[in-house]
Amino acid sequence: MSSLTTTQPPKGLEGVVATNSKICYIDGDRGVLAYRGIDIHELAEHSNFEETCYLLWFGSLPKRNELNDLRKRLAEERHLDPAIIEFLHKVPKQALPMDVLRTAVSALAFYDSDQRKNDHDANIRKSIRLTSQIAMIVAAYDRIRKGKNVVEPDRELSHSANFLLQLNGTKPSPTAERALDIALILHADHELNASTFAARVTAATLSDMHSAVTSAIGALKGPLHGGANEAVFRILETIDREKADPVEYVRNMLAQKKKIPGFGHRVYHTEDPRATHLRVMSRDLGKSSGKSKWYEMSEKIERFVKAEKKLNANVDFYSASTYPALGIDEDLFTPVFAVSRISGWTAHVIEQLDDNRLIRPRAEYLGPEYPNRYVPMDRR
Ligand SMILES: CC(C)(COP(=O)(O)OP(=O)(O)OC[C@H]1O[C@@H](n2cnc3c(N)ncnc32)[C@H](O)[C@@H]1OP(=O)(O)O)[C@@H](O)C(=O)NCCC(=O)NCCS
Repeated sequence: MSSLTTTQPPKGLEGVVATNSKICYIDGDRGVLAYRGIDIHELAEHSNFEETCYLLWFGSLPKRNELNDLRKRLAEERHLDPAIIEFLHKVPKQALPMDVLRTAVSALAFYDSDQRKNDHDANIRKSIRLTSQIAMIVAAYDRIRKGKNVVEPDRELSHSANFLLQLNGTKPSPTAERALDIALILHADHELNASTFAARVTAATLSDMHSAVTSAIGALKGPLHGGANEAVFRILETIDREKADPVEYVRNMLAQKKKIPGFGHRVYHTEDPRATHLRVMSRDLGKSSGKSKWYEMSEKIERFVKAEKKLNANVDFYSASTYPALGIDEDLFTPVFAVSRISGWTAHVIEQLDDNRLIRPRAEYLGPEYPNRYVPMDRR
């Protein structure tokens, strides 16, 4: 009996439901995104990143003592083995932060006391640890490559405030802390996006959490996925440097059949609900930091692309003009995406392993017909 499904798969697996999950709900037609059923708009308004982590990992909102306990555990895990710091010093100074993060996360496994354990509780511990460590690696490498000292963590601060402290060397304002916190909530999970799928495929082989997260970081890097936010900012910078007209610049890109980073989405056919918040943040932070030129350019581009191509801005478009106001450099945008998405990746790895089956689809073979005989070298 053939076990093959013979229908032609859609390119890029568009619309294919590849697994069951209880973590993230998306309605692409209505622009709905919800974690464990709770709308992202409610979370952005009322929640914080630590609480969102709890929701993703444990399935429901925490009681006060449960949240305090998770906060404490995250803070206690603000520690990197000296060998990781040494590695960050040794990599070439021009290395891309995203590449450094990928390799450092893989190396973290060597120093993780749970490395050989793959059970549910060990994976929760690794999720908490990795969430704290990834933020520290991103901040530490940025300072090291700039010849600055690595800032000691402050275990009294929230995850967001501590990240900004370790990145910029000063305690952030409550506005900056809240802005990053909302950005982290918005980026925390997104169902079977490419990097999460990569994480689940790796986890499903019964490999381990660090391998799954390393796979995910590799997938997130690409400009069709998390790398888009950096690509958006490079365009804004070029327009600024060349004193170009933003609309003409983008019109020209479209004429050359180039895709405009930060627009379009595989799942949303309306506004990406995350963009709604990031647009406001970009505007407000731009105003308060005196750098509103990025927002103003972005707004013009958004209006034009929407009218011309009927494409909506996605999560990456306005995060590009939000992050500079928080002291985050352009090539850290995608690593900062990982600082948040680690919560979703790990939640999915845990869910995969709680009811695992190897993920191993088939390909429709379109190559030379079988049997295609081997021709010896002297007769080719
Ligand atoms: C996100 C993305 C990869 C989704 O891709 P997809 O579902 O495979 O959709 P396609 O690339 O097939 O695009 C469908 C159509 O819209 C157009 N389109 C989609 N996104 C576009 C963009 N950003 N700029 C210009 N045109 C775009 C495509 O050219 C295509 O047009 P066609 O049918 O005339 O050829 C795609 O929209 C994109 O590349 N966006 C830019 C990168 C980005 O922002 N990624 C982050 C996503 S959160």
